[in-house]
Amino acid sequence: MNGMKVLISEEEIKKRIGEIAKKISADYKGKTVKLICVLKGGVMFLVDMARSLELTVEFDFMVVKSYVGTESTGKIEIVKDLEDPIEGENIILVEDIIDTGRTLSYLIEYLKAKNPASITVCTLLDKPERRVVDGVIPDYIGFVIPDEFVVGYGLDYNQKYRNLPYVATLS
Ligand code: IMP
Ligand code: MG
Repeated sequence: MNGMKVLISEEEIKKRIGEIAKKISADYKGKTVKLICVLKGGVMFLVDMARSLELTVEFDFMVVKSYVGTESTGKIEIVKDLEDPIEGENIILVEDIIDTGRTLSYLIEYLKAKNPASITVCTLLDKPERRVVDGVIPDYIGFVIPDEFVVGYGLDYNQKYRNLPYVATLS
């Protein structure tokens, strides 16, 4: 790891989050939604997006482990589960990035089994070229990016760089 290059600027992120929040606010007009954030990567996106939603919003958080260094292991473990039941609720799963799709497909099945009224997926970044699980299509996508390892705006490399206000490639 030696070079860092800005891929998506702070301004671009801000603008895109405004657009997504507007779309979600229209799609869920008059409803209460529960945003389930997958920590730690999704946290920047969650807080910035939530503040732009014109809806009644609840939060819950999960921690899953699925990644070591820059290689996806394929094994998913729930480290921190939901605090409350989600039966009958409108759930939006908020993710930092969909890469292989393994984490998302696991979480969707896990959450669906708890009988929410609805469930959609909102991800800041999508790397479709890396997908190994079929049928993993996020409902709301910030940016589609090429197959490069990225950090910043919640995303880490060995737990570092999450605080960067932009998304950068590491090489
Ligand atoms: P999955 O491969 O779709 O299951 O993604 C698992 C997790 O790997 C994501 O939620 C991220 O936390 C992490 N991840 C995937 N690609 C990147 C990346 O480019 N930078 C940092 N983390 C990543
Ligand atoms: Mg994640």
